[in-house]
Amino acid sequence: MHNGIIENFLDLKKKLEAEGHIFASQTDSEVIPHLIEVGLSKGNDFEEAFRYMARQLKGSQAIVALSQSPERVLCGIRLGYAGGLLIANHKGETILGSALPAMVPLFEQDMSSSHEVVFLESEEMVTVTRSNTIYQNLDGHMLGKEPVSVAVSDLSSDKGNYSHFMLKEIMEQPDVVGATFKEREDFYNKTISLSDFQISDADVLNLTRVILVGCGTSLHAAQVGRNWIEEFAGIPASAESASEFRYNHLTVDSKTLVITIGQSGETADTIAAMEHALSKGARLITICNSEGSQATRIAESTLNMQAGLEIGVASTKTFLASLCTVLILAMYLGQIRGALNSLQMGVLIENLSTLPRILGDLLGDTGKYKDLAQIISGYDDLLFLGRGTHVPIAYEGALKLKEISYIHAEGYAAGEMKHGPIALIDSNMATLALAPKYQLYDKMLSNILEVKARDGMVAAILTEGDVELGSRVDVAAYIPPVPESLLPMVLTIPLQLVAYYVALAKGCDVDKPRNLAKSVTVE
Ligand code: M6R
Repeated sequence: MHNGIIENFLDLKKKLEAEGHIFASQTDSEVIPHLIEVGLSKGNDFEEAFRYMARQLKGSQAIVALSQSPERVLCGIRLGYAGGLLIANHKGETILGSALPAMVPLFEQDMSSSHEVVFLESEEMVTVTRSNTIYQNLDGHMLGKEPVSVAVSDLSSDKGNYSHFMLKEIMEQPDVVGATFKEREDFYNKTISLSDFQISDADVLNLTRVILVGCGTSLHAAQVGRNWIEEFAGIPASAESASEFRYNHLTVDSKTLVITIGQSGETADTIAAMEHALSKGARLITICNSEGSQATRIAESTLNMQAGLEIGVASTKTFLASLCTVLILAMYLGQIRGALNSLQMGVLIENLSTLPRILGDLLGDTGKYKDLAQIISGYDDLLFLGRGTHVPIAYEGALKLKEISYIHAEGYAAGEMKHGPIALIDSNMATLALAPKYQLYDKMLSNILEVKARDGMVAAILTEGDVELGSRVDVAAYIPPVPESLLPMVLTIPLQLVAYYVALAKGCDVDKPRNLAKSVTVE
């Protein structure tokens, strides 16, 4: 088994072919068995031949190979940070997997206990024989690997009464949000305490820059969080795509706090970005939903998302958990730096305390988004428009729709529309506008009218009671009036549900969309 990319496979293949090896495919993976064969031909046993193979490869990957000899030796190795590899023992069997969720069906056969797993780091190898399991490095030196205990209750993969994990996970969001705030907010003293944040107050006061880093949905959470760090902590902040972070020539030093966001903690691009941040001397924390994952092992501190296991490939509850965690962190930094006074802090904390209830009420009536979804499912192209902190929410709405329903959708800053995308607007183009009543409402209204004037179909998410705009758009769904700091979370709910119902209407595989993996462990 091979998960990753062999960067020098063309050179290796050329050399092997020159030596007489015949290849049956175009894949990079095929050089692996050929190299093991070379290792065996040098008189090595299978384990040493496997190690010989691993030493020839460039790039990040995980590899597992089984010998054909009667001893049936199984070897696995992790090279670099793409492709996780972990080892569990279950009823006398040794199981190798790429990530904890892969182990869930196995663990669920024994719900009463926790399970011990061993995570391999880069250049660490496992050898499993009928009688034992040993760990060594690439040079063959023995390693004493400590197992990590994983509570089975944290890994429940039961769909319950829901038809899809995605819907179940959307419905869990009020609880997830509550758990994120619990024990971090002091409602009496109006303060935030983050016991898992290990950077001293003195170092927080010295920070000159915050960079939030993530991929996909986690990048969108970083983009919203960037605003909050600036607004509530008063620190210059930017959000960067993890896949570009290393190449962007950013000024990163010991006064920079890099915050990575990730559901899996195993995304190869994010891990590479973390390594880069450390090499520049940055302070590094991660907001992560997978305890014991690679990201949590690299970061100085981990802020756990408290979202529980997420099975649906489309991230939903971990997006909301990321948003809430980064918001709490922004408030915490603002508290230390004196950027938020106690009155402002009190208002924010009181507002946050209402969020689980508001989300619960919204989710109590999911049917109201079905009309909107029905109309949208008739279009092939969609623009999601928002302004301010809602721009990344528009990106996230578009990502959710395209990944599970395969409809082409783009998120855009509504003010940018007139600089290009407006040329696309006609009766075949649908626009979903985020237009709640808040400070940028009037600007959004003008953008909606620009689309209507060009015959575009406009669906809008509006604040309850906005009859005026409701009558001017083609179809509207409503959210309750909420304070501005809660809008990114509240606006996300309709977008998740619309994506879900559109995918259902189109008969798509909601939980396992084509071409996508839950955890992207290759660069
Ligand atoms: O595990 P991560 O949060 O690091 O994953 C990053 C992206 O691959 C992920 O957010 C992806 O975009 C979502 N599954 C899309 O819903």
